[in-house]
Amino acid sequence: MSKLRVGILGCGQISSIYLKNLTGIFSDRIEVVGIADVIRESAEKRAAEYGGLRVISPDEMIEGRVCDSIVNLTPAPAHDVTNLRIVEAGLHLYSEKPLALSMDVVKRIDEVARSRGIRVAVAPDTLLGAGVRTCAEVVRSGRIGAPVGSLGFISVKRFDERYMNVFRGPWLDLAPYHVGAIISYLGPIGAVSAISRPARADGEGASLPESARTMENPALTGVVLEHRGGAISTLLASSETWAYVPTLVVHGSLGTLTATDPNMFGGVPRVRSGKESEEAVELLPDFRENSRGVGVWDLAGAIHESRPAVLTNEAALHATEVLLAGIESGKAGRRVSIESPG
Ligand SMILES: NC(=O)c1ccc[n+]([C@@H]2O[C@H](COP(=O)([O-])OP(=O)(O)OC[C@H]3O[C@@H](n4cnc5c(N)ncnc54)[C@H](O)[C@@H]3O)[C@@H](O)[C@H]2O)c1
Repeated sequence: MSKLRVGILGCGQISSIYLKNLTGIFSDRIEVVGIADVIRESAEKRAAEYGGLRVISPDEMIEGRVCDSIVNLTPAPAHDVTNLRIVEAGLHLYSEKPLALSMDVVKRIDEVARSRGIRVAVAPDTLLGAGVRTCAEVVRSGRIGAPVGSLGFISVKRFDERYMNVFRGPWLDLAPYHVGAIISYLGPIGAVSAISRPARADGEGASLPESARTMENPALTGVVLEHRGGAISTLLASSETWAYVPTLVVHGSLGTLTATDPNMFGGVPRVRSGKESEEAVELLPDFRENSRGVGVWDLAGAIHESRPAVLTNEAALHATEVLLAGIESGKAGRRVSIESPG
C-alpha cells in the first residue's frame, strides 16, 4: 500500500516515542517526511536521533504540500491555532489532546473537516491498546451485566508552572484517557456537571504558581457524566495528591470490572462477579506495550481503505466537548448539555 506522508509538528518530550514507533513498528503504513518545531534545534536534535529525518519549518509543513497528514505534538495552548491551520490547509490531522481549548474552534475544525473530507483524530490512542479494548469487551460481552456506572480518580502530584499552565492541569491533561475509556465502555455522554476549585493556598499549596490558582486549570475537579444509555460516571482529577495513582472501576448489575489505567496500553483488568476474589482477565492480543502512534497507523490504514478509523472525527468532537464542558461547568456551577452525538 502507498504510505501516508506524515509531518511531525512539535519535537518535545513525547515526540520521542511517536518517532520511534512511526519510523519503526508502524513504518509499513507511514513515512515521516518532515519534522518541525518553533525551536528549530529541537527538531534537529530529534532528526539526528531518528536516522536523519528532514527538518522543515512549521509553515512549510502546513502550507508547503509536503505531507498528507500532520501529527500535532505541540502543547495545549498551541492547539487552537495550529489544528485549525492544518485542516484549513487540507491536511488530515492527528492531534495530541485536547483538540482545542474552545468549543468555537472545535466546531470550526469540525466544519472545515466535514466540508473537505478531512480526517481528524485526537489522542489518546491508548484506546486502541489491549488494556482498554479488553475492558470494553468485558462490558460489551455482558460479563458484568447491565452497566450501571463508573468511578475514576486521576491523581497527579505536579504543581509546577509548566504542568498547570502549559498542560492545563489534571483535568485537561490526564482526564482525556479516562473520558475516552468510559465512552468506549459505557457509551456517549449527554450532560456534564462539575465542581472545581483552584489549589488551596494553605500548606503545600502556599508555594504554588499563580496558574494553579485559576479556574481555567483547576487543581481539583469532580465531574458527573451522564451517559446517554443511562449509566452515570464520576471522575475526580487532582494535582494535589501524593503521586500518580489512577483508578477506574466499572460497576454492572452482575459484576464489577477494575479497569486498567487508560493512560497505558497494557495492564491487568480484573472482574468480580458473585465470587469472593477478583479474577484477572487475559488481555486481547496486539498493542500491549507502549504503542503511541498506533492511532496514526490506524488512520493511515483507514484513509487507504476508505473505512472509518478507530479514532473518528465524531469521537474527537465528542470527547473534546465533554472535556471542555468539565471546565465550563466547574466555572459556571451548572450542568452543561452535550450537543455532539458521539
Ligand atoms: N510528555 C508526555 O509524557 C506526554 C504524554 C502524552 C501526551 N502528551 C501531549 O503531547 C503534547 C506535547 O507534550 P510534550 O511533553 O512533548 O511537550 P513539550 O513542551 O516537551 O514539547 C512541545 C514542543 O512543541 C513545540 N511547539 C510549541 N508551539 C509550537 C508551534 N506552534 N509550532 C511548532 N512547534 C511548537 C515546543 O517548542 C516544544 O518543543 C501535549 O499536548 C501533551 O499533553 C505528552
